[in-house]
Amino acid sequence: MGRELPSIDLRVRADVDRDAVARSIIEAQPDATISPTMLSPYGLHISGAGDPRALPGYDQGAFAVQEEGAQLIGLLLRAEPGERVLDACAGRGGKTAQLLEAVGDSGSVVAADLHEHRLEQISEELARLRLDPSRLETACVDWTVGRGPVRGEFDRVLVDAPCTGLGTLRRRPEILLRAGHEDGARMGETQRRMLENAATLVRPGGTLLYAVCSPLTQEGSRVVESADLPGFELQVGRASHLKSLYFGSDGGLGVGPWVEGAGPWADAYQVYMWVNVG
Ligand SMILES: C[S@@+](CC[C@H](N)C(=O)[O-])C[C@H]1O[C@@H](n2cnc3c(N)ncnc32)[C@H](O)[C@@H]1O
Repeated sequence: MGRELPSIDLRVRADVDRDAVARSIIEAQPDATISPTMLSPYGLHISGAGDPRALPGYDQGAFAVQEEGAQLIGLLLRAEPGERVLDACAGRGGKTAQLLEAVGDSGSVVAADLHEHRLEQISEELARLRLDPSRLETACVDWTVGRGPVRGEFDRVLVDAPCTGLGTLRRRPEILLRAGHEDGARMGETQRRMLENAATLVRPGGTLLYAVCSPLTQEGSRVVESADLPGFELQVGRASHLKSLYFGSDGGLGVGPWVEGAGPWADAYQVYMWVNVG
């Protein structure tokens, strides 16, 4: 008997019927269990379906493999058609594709990262998802030291920062093998510098979003309290378009298994959002 892969979430493209995708997967994999995610309107939670690349719809780009919490971070940014968006820590582009889809044919995305080899993998995924690569620019940047070659102002900037990853222990328990008690503080200092540099590219009236997949305060509230972000106003209260999600009185929004509607499998994130009112 083959080894079963852990459960996964899919993000179905906004112009594709989520229920139809679920039906076609169940037809192909009758032993799989599949349910719509409760918080992301585009997600499907699947277990027992095997390799997602073999599922119907994959080759046609009907969905991306993306954990529900990660989907929510992209959605919280609220990118609109026609906007210019910076995905400051794009990595292999998990959220870049989501943002490109949101800004549509009249918008554009700049995907930046420290590691060029990660950025190089984005174009293949965009092609699979039928997203126009001409609306994407990539840039190699070390945000701890500055803005690199990135120029101009952005309507929205996402800082999906490198972190200890302690919010992903369900999927990656090996993280505990190398976790040390100073990691949070060390990462927090890196995250603060990255956030401050990326924030300088937000246009007046634009939005800045900071996210880490870690529950540590050193990577969340302490970064936010220590960051020098002149003219930025921290958002509090309900994330209007996503039920159950609230930015607390300190601006922090925690996503994880404890949030109503999230499954016990959910990764844990901390998210903060500002508007540049300066
Ligand atoms: C949490 S991951 C990003 C995941 C990605 N946004 C996604 O949705 O798939 C953080 C990324 O930050 C990048 N990174 C780490 N240090 C950096 C730095 N100093 N400047 C820019 N990017 C950095 C890492 O290479 C990594 O790809």
